[in-house]
Amino acid sequence: MLNSQSNIGIIGAGAMGSGIAQVAATAGHEVCLFDLNEKSLQNSKSKLAKIMSRLVEKGRVTIEESEAIQGRIKYVDGLSHFECCDLVIEAVVEKLQVKQELFSHLENIMKEDAVLASNTSSLSIASIGGKLKQPERLLGIHFFNPAPLMPLVEIVPSLVTDSSIVENVRDLIDSWKKITVIAKDTPGFIVNRVARPFYSEAIKMLEEGFADEATIDWAIKELGGFRMGPFELMDLIGHDVNYVVTETVWTEMYFDPRYKPALTQKRLVEANRLGRKSGQGFYNYNEESINAQPNKDEKLGNVILNRILYMLVNEAIDALFLQIASKEDIDIAMTKGVNYPKGLIAWGAEIGFDTILRGLNESFERYGDDRYRPSVLLKDIVNGKVTI
Ligand SMILES: NC(=O)c1ccc[n+]([C@@H]2O[C@H](COP(=O)([O-])OP(=O)(O)OC[C@H]3O[C@@H](n4cnc5c(N)ncnc54)[C@H](O)[C@@H]3O)[C@@H](O)[C@H]2O)c1
Repeated sequence: MLNSQSNIGIIGAGAMGSGIAQVAATAGHEVCLFDLNEKSLQNSKSKLAKIMSRLVEKGRVTIEESEAIQGRIKYVDGLSHFECCDLVIEAVVEKLQVKQELFSHLENIMKEDAVLASNTSSLSIASIGGKLKQPERLLGIHFFNPAPLMPLVEIVPSLVTDSSIVENVRDLIDSWKKITVIAKDTPGFIVNRVARPFYSEAIKMLEEGFADEATIDWAIKELGGFRMGPFELMDLIGHDVNYVVTETVWTEMYFDPRYKPALTQKRLVEANRLGRKSGQGFYNYNEESINAQPNKDEKLGNVILNRILYMLVNEAIDALFLQIASKEDIDIAMTKGVNYPKGLIAWGAEIGFDTILRGLNESFERYGDDRYRPSVLLKDIVNGKVTI
């Protein structure tokens, strides 16, 4: 049974593993952190020292607390140290075979009742546990980047995960001051599935010459209240990362056209225009370059916003239809995982599901493209067959 005294193991000291270790140590747990790469471990330790001294400067933690948090993380040099851990969360490279082999080792080292968890973004939890003797003790605990700052955690049981473990893990992560939702073991879980049209419909409009990046970003922020527009967000995430998420969801969904990636983004990746990290993506980040200014025409802006918003609401409603998560959890996931200004299902009700269905049907007719296919649940709501 996991509780505030449980020892936590983290494997992989990259962006995610380091962040999760910080969260667990801040919640008072003793943490073991391991990485195959000695340099990653050293970087993780010095990065945490910098983060903690900034938090001390800002008055968020005392010097004593900062020292205690850092003192609770042990940087270890092998998996044998995980023998005493009650929960292990892996955040190593996103490769199925690596994760499977890692858990097979851990299963032999760790206690019989220890819980095993993966922070995977795109692999199925069932496949990661497929080679285990006791797959019922494995589940997904999906943090968002940066883990110490993003409140959402998706808890993802596989088909065979023991339900008592799910509840226990949810209570534990809640006690780490995170907001948890339960998601079905399906591609993209909640957030990375429902958010796809935010990017793809924006790129579609750009490809059509309907509006440029700056205008679309302006409409989404100014008229929609989103913190970032799709193009600046993709540039921040990095096109290599964002493209792979879209491609994985699409492939895993048996090539459902609704998730089809955009050639425009593929070309950016091929040309190494990865966004902020490479100095150029949709925008140019070199100091001397001047990016285009938006066309602040409100009428055009509202058309842009609605095209994206209607598809997002449709995706959220379809996730509910397919029982990916509860209505409440879908809305919490999008506001707390990607900072949307409102939950999409609540937003849809506010706009009117009939308006959204009409908009989607018009696009479906105009383009003949299955990406605009309205969810059966959306149609049922509008036809009065179902209330949600
Ligand atoms: N970066 C994100 O935004 C994000 C968000 C949520 C989930 N994730 C998931 O978290 C995981 C890690 O992502 P990241 O961005 O932190 O990657 P990263 O590249 O920053 O770090 C991965 C670390 O794992 C180490 N590693 C690789 N194989 C290992 C092994 N067999 N044993 C021990 N250490 C090993 C590497 O040396 C590296 O330090 C992935 O599964 C990813 O899908 C990433």
